Amino acid sequence: MLLAWYDRHHRELPWRTSPAMAAQGKRADPYHVWLSEVMLQQTTVQAVKPYFLKFLAAWPRVDDLAAAPVEDVMAAWAGLGYYARARNLKKCAEAVAREHGGVFPDTEEGLKQLPGIGDYTSAAVAAIAFNRQAAVMDGNVERVISRLFVIDAPLPGSKPAMKMKVAELTPADRPGDFAQAMMDLGATICTPKRPACALCPFNGVCLALAEDEPERFPVKAAK
Ligand code: ADE
Repeated sequence: MLLAWYDRHHRELPWRTSPAMAAQGKRADPYHVWLSEVMLQQTTVQAVKPYFLKFLAAWPRVDDLAAAPVEDVMAAWAGLGYYARARNLKKCAEAVAREHGGVFPDTEEGLKQLPGIGDYTSAAVAAIAFNRQAAVMDGNVERVISRLFVIDAPLPGSKPAMKMKVAELTPADRPGDFAQAMMDLGATICTPKRPACALCPFNGVCLALAEDEPERFPVKAAK
């Protein structure tokens, strides 16, 4: 039901494959997926779009980014914040170019060996670019999962349990679309305040909605 919702309502984003390409079995370019996921980690989709396009125009392939002067990369990143991400981006591009012949590793474990790639980015790139059945979890996904299953334990301690739920739900055939569907759902329907439950594909099974208190989740540890 989530994938059917995604097929109708997904956001058209420059790093995603178009539905026409996807219908021909085309996957998104791993370099595009990686670049977008690094940019999206602490920044909104709307803010990332122009930066993503600027980077691709300047450095169309990962080898181009690897060869670029680090000052140019930092200058292009200016405004996105969290500058450690830009430095790691450059280091990762160099590692892919130098150690992998410009080809991204196609597994979660292989990706995690690269500089600056942690649990989130490795899972996202493995699922979206390589169709691996990786469990992708970010803040949006945590909100959706904690509501679906009324997870009462507070964040961040509840993360491993949530990740297990995501892993159980992630389908073998379209793991990347599933991950992006969960993120889109969290961003557009299952919002922190006043979620649009009437439009949600999970509204028949969501336990937080059944208890009429979706906004109580995710529970956070007292400060
Ligand atoms: N946030 C981070 N990555 C995303 C993606 N691939 N789609 C939608 N939102 C995201």
